[in-house]
Amino acid sequence: MGKETGLDVDQDQVQDQDSIPIKRDATNIAFYKILETRISRRGLLKNISAISAGLTLNAASRLHAQSNSGFALAFEEIAQGLDESLYLASGYTYQVLLRWGDPVFANAPVFDPYKQTPAAQAKQFGYNNDFITFLSLDQARNDSMHGLLVVNHEFVNSRMMHPGSPHAFKLTKQQVDTEILAHGLTIVEVQKKKYKWHVNLESKYNRRITPHTIMRFSGPACGHDRLKTSFSPNGDNCMGTFGNCAGSMTPWGTVLTAEENVQAYFIGQAKKTFEKKSYKRLGLKGDRSAYSAWGKHYEQWDLDRQPQAGLHAGWIVEIDPYDPNFIPIKRTALGRCKHEGCGVHVNKDSRVVIYMGDDQVFEYIYRYISKNKFEPGNRNQNLSLLDDGELSVAEFTDQGTVIWHPLLWGMDPHTRKNGFNSQADVVIDMRSAADLVGATPMDRPEEIKVNPVTGNVFVVLTNNFKRGPLNTDVANPRALNRHGHILELVPPQLDHRAHEFKWDVFVLAGNPNNKFDHAKYHADISENGWFSNPDNCSFDKFGNIWIATDGFYRQGIADGIWVSAAQGEGKALTKHFLRAPREAEICSPCFTPDQKTMFCSVQHPGGDSSFDRPSTRWPDFDPQLPPRPAVIAITHEQDKNIGG
Ligand code: FEO
Ligand code: CA
Ligand code: CA
Repeated sequence: MGKETGLDVDQDQVQDQDSIPIKRDATNIAFYKILETRISRRGLLKNISAISAGLTLNAASRLHAQSNSGFALAFEEIAQGLDESLYLASGYTYQVLLRWGDPVFANAPVFDPYKQTPAAQAKQFGYNNDFITFLSLDQARNDSMHGLLVVNHEFVNSRMMHPGSPHAFKLTKQQVDTEILAHGLTIVEVQKKKYKWHVNLESKYNRRITPHTIMRFSGPACGHDRLKTSFSPNGDNCMGTFGNCAGSMTPWGTVLTAEENVQAYFIGQAKKTFEKKSYKRLGLKGDRSAYSAWGKHYEQWDLDRQPQAGLHAGWIVEIDPYDPNFIPIKRTALGRCKHEGCGVHVNKDSRVVIYMGDDQVFEYIYRYISKNKFEPGNRNQNLSLLDDGELSVAEFTDQGTVIWHPLLWGMDPHTRKNGFNSQADVVIDMRSAADLVGATPMDRPEEIKVNPVTGNVFVVLTNNFKRGPLNTDVANPRALNRHGHILELVPPQLDHRAHEFKWDVFVLAGNPNNKFDHAKYHADISENGWFSNPDNCSFDKFGNIWIATDGFYRQGIADGIWVSAAQGEGKALTKHFLRAPREAEICSPCFTPDQKTMFCSVQHPGGDSSFDRPSTRWPDFDPQLPPRPAVIAITHEQDKNIGG
């Protein structure tokens, strides 16, 4: 979800005609003519079995999967509904660990939303936390009791943050500065003592990263003329990060955070800049900015004063949370788009593979493969893995394959003839590069993750109200797709570098009892087990998939978390585990290594109601306080595994 724009729509829901791919080749056009999904309900189950049977699992993984079928997910699911509170499956309890305004440092002032200041916000937990990762402080022991939490703050909602619910276009300078400093990320040290989690406010690791934090570029676009501005004369650094949605932890202990709805932040005449074509393809209009007040005060968001500044956003950013002085790096080799997230996987040949969704209707799915290999313990080598590699984009065929088309400068069609003068142009304009090779336009690609047990890739597609009956295709089979779906990609012999994968549908979300939804789950799905608008997914150590939703509440049913086995008899039998407060989405289910704690984000509780008359006051339920986005820590009352 993104900030309200002043047009009463959230940014993730904006169906931006201008930025829909401009060029489509014959392959794409052929897809639009496929009206029937090739998979019947019976066929879905059959195909899933075939995929599972064809996998070459390693022995340990197979053991995990078998020994835990019937063990994991043995909870009584909760009822669907919609009210002000948060509910968990029976036997589970939650602790509100970090709310907007909670201290990140020992000298942070006590939160007072009626007297909030930028100076206070700079030392406090930010707004609308989304992605979370837990990193053990003792990595050698995989310590589940003591670690660092890294949390994104994706966007703000002026109506919910400030007393009087001001319009986003009419903020004071102090309110603008508060909003800016409520963005970015928070890093805190956390420890579990006597079954409760605590934040160590004295920790040397605690840090706020904001849209004002100096960052540097690396990779093919670093230093390119197109990235040069008066505040970055060499085109090799930039100001901060914002619009950070999902992310990942890398095997070398850093965190990747994805810049998503960056187009919403810029003002100015985008059409009058040299980059007008590039901005149009990203949907960056300038004059309709949802954050207009920001650009009035800071030229980093004003295209009239800094026409190139829009190219500084839309990247994957790498941060080392173990090094409080680390200068975050925008890794341009991974391309520029509305990055939802990045699923990291070490391939069997030790190369690092990253899967990325571009969250907008009719956008694409990307893959990056590092040229060099991951070497445990070799920090310098590992910190360069995301600067040199092969970028590609996915085409889904009706023969059940995925073809990965390279986005490589010098190889037709990515040449001067088509306006690409170097790999820098390819990564800066990744969407346009992908338009030329027959990539399949998807139903809003959100999170993409690799199942650690099966090695398959799960792609979450949240919805697409714009897909008409004449442009359905095999991978996006429903017109007016209001519920979203999840695909499963199968690399041959678990080789994630392969040019061609197989794929199938995991779930078509929606109500299985409504024939017009054309939903597909396991045949034993319960009346509470179905969901709509999947957004994030995570895997536990047994390979179960935990699915978080965003937008179900618009249908009168609270968002939440559902979980299913990802293979075997319980495959696609989703169960309802968590129910969110009114108008909140749940983001980033995140487990400690022992699976005794699940952290997750409760984002935008109260939605777009107002500070003064919110639709919920979760989590404080104090009549003097607005609802507050927060990180919660979920445990079992008898300290069992989450889901077990
Ligand atoms: Fe920030 Fe696509 O959700
Ligand atoms: Ca979303
Ligand atoms: Ca999301």
